[in-house]
Amino acid sequence: MTYDTDVVVVGTGPAGGAAALLLATYGIRTLVVNKYGWLANTPRSHITNQRTMEVLRDLGVEQEALASGTPQELMGDTVLCTSLAGAELGRITSWGTGARSATEYRAASPCPLIDLPQTYLEPILVTNAAARGAKVRMDTEFLSFTQDSSGVTVLLRDRVRDDSYEVRARYLIGADGGRSKVAEQAGLPIAGQTGKAGSMNITFTADLSRYVAHRPSVLYWVMRPGAHMGGIGMGLVRMVRPWNEWLLVWGYDISKPPPEVTREEAVAIVRDLVGDPDLDVAITSTSLWTVNHNYATAYSAGRVFCAGDAVHRHPPSNGLGSNTSIQDSYNLAWKLAMVVRGQAGPALLDTYSAERAPVGKQVVDRANLSRDQFGPIFEALGITGDTSPAGIDQGLAACLAETPEGAHRRRQLEAAITLKNYEFNAHGVELDQRYVSTAVINPLPSEQLDELRHHPSAQPGAKLPHAWLVGPNGRRVSTLDLVGGGQFTVLTGLAGTEWAPAAHQVSDLLGIALRVTRIGSADARDAYGDWTRLTRLSEEAALLVRPDGYIAWRADTQHDAYNQLTAALVPVLDLV
Ligand code: FDA
Repeated sequence: MTYDTDVVVVGTGPAGGAAALLLATYGIRTLVVNKYGWLANTPRSHITNQRTMEVLRDLGVEQEALASGTPQELMGDTVLCTSLAGAELGRITSWGTGARSATEYRAASPCPLIDLPQTYLEPILVTNAAARGAKVRMDTEFLSFTQDSSGVTVLLRDRVRDDSYEVRARYLIGADGGRSKVAEQAGLPIAGQTGKAGSMNITFTADLSRYVAHRPSVLYWVMRPGAHMGGIGMGLVRMVRPWNEWLLVWGYDISKPPPEVTREEAVAIVRDLVGDPDLDVAITSTSLWTVNHNYATAYSAGRVFCAGDAVHRHPPSNGLGSNTSIQDSYNLAWKLAMVVRGQAGPALLDTYSAERAPVGKQVVDRANLSRDQFGPIFEALGITGDTSPAGIDQGLAACLAETPEGAHRRRQLEAAITLKNYEFNAHGVELDQRYVSTAVINPLPSEQLDELRHHPSAQPGAKLPHAWLVGPNGRRVSTLDLVGGGQFTVLTGLAGTEWAPAAHQVSDLLGIALRVTRIGSADARDAYGDWTRLTRLSEEAALLVRPDGYIAWRADTQHDAYNQLTAALVPVLDLV
């Protein structure tokens, strides 16, 4: 059987770009297509959380991302106001920039969270994918596929030549966004509600330094008349580049026909939310989109896999869309690579859906709840029904009254704003995705974790915890730097001497690369004692860590290390 390529990826967004880069890095022949002439032309996603930065670090492109992004310290003074020039309702220190959360975020990962607009992220993914051997075809539209027991035949249209042609691949990844044709043709079951509310994006340039530089943030939430109708909970002025490039999000009534937003109307909305009727503003684009609460309950059908918005569609609240999309691909790519190379059986691919579909549902539910959790702020101000400027002024005045009633309102407003930590500081949501599947032996029992805190764990099904170690050159190295690169890793302690020879034998037996690192050795000294304190593992215990940094299995003694390791890897890789 001959194939034109191993994997066809449809879409060069965060999900498709990451899939192509990962597969190319793992040496898998990959063709990635996009129906447009180039990458994202509007800066939709931006909050790039620590887990995504860890993926980029593993891919060797973290420094590029850091160089292109806005740093964490300029991201976090989230403001709630009546306009940028008007009164403030309150502020929330966000994205791990609060006094306490900064410590927690720094302890959780070697990577900071950054603001990296999609227009900057996609070129990093796709140009590196191309440099590492992926074939990138722009102006190439996916039309349809058929699949059989040995492969997928994908029909593509060249939009420049205006003709269509077939490509034969082993596997197909649909990373074609919220209107995914691949997911539709694969018949993936999509649950939830479509089109809950209408939203418009207006991108513009304007120097807003005088309104924002003293309270640097990526998000300025604005309560204006109509702010709670449709949209994402409130009007939003979002920084794209400090402090002269912006994206404004405003709602529209979805029960009416979609509005046509003229340039004059867009300018008027911008000036209204900024609160400056004479603002010098240049509109660069306008577009409409809808708020959805949709998630696929299965992410694959046969040899076809979907990732990203194709399988989870939700508002941008919590900044999870592109992050989850990249993390989907991180879960899928190593599995495809090992199956393509013949190092794992096909059932390993079933674990993609088993592990990621629950995460997708959790993310969709969280983002929609965060959107709804603007409601209590309106209630605290006594604003119900249609918001009028007078109603907002009255609500604010009531919150400032020097009376017991005013004090009560202030406590209510404070509680309503505190609730928004579940959107702006949901560290547990960002980092604590747990997996249960056949690619994890004896996984952690599923439990409801506090969404505001990260819970590091050295149990199977959890991501390997980060701790700083010291490498041979005296520099710090993260535990996460010891794993990844498309390989399985056995992590043990200095006294875990049986594991290296055992891993060597298992590696020969199964034909897979198996790295062994002893924490405590000169390569990875636990100089700060953080690893020992965090995991409480005995030195002879071992963690089998998957290429995506998840713990697949844990052994508490090194007795019979070879047989223990073989008995773990065989079911994980479906080699039975
Ligand atoms: P995406 O839609 O980005 O890409 C789909 C790709 O498929 C495109 O390249 C498209 O051209 C291509 N394609 C589609 N059909 C095709 C066909 N038939 N043939 C060939 N190619 C085809 N997320 C986040 O993590 N942090 C954040 O801060 C935000 N903020 C945010 C703000 C706003 C205002 C919005 C609207 C959205 C966000 N998001 C976000 C969400 C984020 O933008 C979204 O989740 C990701 O873009 C999804 O990435 P995908 O790669 O899945 O789809």
